[in-house]
Amino acid sequence: MPDTESHEPDLPPKAGKPRVVTTKTVITMKRTGEKIAMLTGYDYLVAKYLDQVGIDIILVGDSLGNVVQGYETTLPVTVDDMIYHAKAVKRAVRNALIVVDMPFMSYQTSVDDAVRNCGRVMKEVGVGAVKLEGGAYIADIVRHLVKIGIPVMGHLGLTPQSINKFGTYEVRAQEQEEARQLLDDARVLSEAGVFSMVLEKIPASLAREVTGAIPVPTIGIGAGPHCDGQVLVVYDMLGLTEEFKPRFVRRYAELAETVRGAFRHYIDDVKGGEFPTGKESY
Ligand code: KIV
Repeated sequence: MPDTESHEPDLPPKAGKPRVVTTKTVITMKRTGEKIAMLTGYDYLVAKYLDQVGIDIILVGDSLGNVVQGYETTLPVTVDDMIYHAKAVKRAVRNALIVVDMPFMSYQTSVDDAVRNCGRVMKEVGVGAVKLEGGAYIADIVRHLVKIGIPVMGHLGLTPQSINKFGTYEVRAQEQEEARQLLDDARVLSEAGVFSMVLEKIPASLAREVTGAIPVPTIGIGAGPHCDGQVLVVYDMLGLTEEFKPRFVRRYAELAETVRGAFRHYIDDVKGGEFPTGKESY
């Protein structure tokens, strides 16, 4: 019996017909061995370019607290901030799966708070999923969200919302006990129903073990090559956050200097009376 409701999201893209990525597609990609490419996006234009070139997932990360809002940590970011940015991203995207990070204290406090805040994001923005940081202690929350129709991406390892507990942005789970706990958390979250999981800044060997132990895809950042996918903060890989140079960031452009050069050139042109010319006037 043909599924007439389906837009065939799980099939490989036909020539000229981009694939619409859903949470189900992402799970299938693990099965078929296709690596998942995820980048963060916080605004309309960047999201448009990401979608145009076929990114699988755009994460509206609460890293926007650092790279867009200029805070030292992600803790001050609010649900309204996330909704504002996610709406801009949503207007640009036709094919990629959009996942929205739930900010600090918007879901950890109770199942009710999680339902209310994640529900707001899903309802007001219309994205595909939310991402929550944390281990087995948020399993009940994850289970309930998934049950009521809100897909959840997990996030283990260096979870920036816990920076005050960790005290440092160093690699996590290097000791056996923390590694064992992380593996256990991954299994519990997977059983609770997450459709995928970010692994941030953990040893590559541990990321490989987690990836082999759970049926849903792992998406690594600073977690080595064995994850089912990779994610970077878009401003890092574009070279806009030039002072931030951890070894896991590969710079695909050096835009900070390009942007400064363009600004300098503009200032010189205005001061020198070379902009605008007659051709640039009405
Ligand atoms: O907020 C974010 O951008 C993230 C990624 C780094 C995974 O959580």
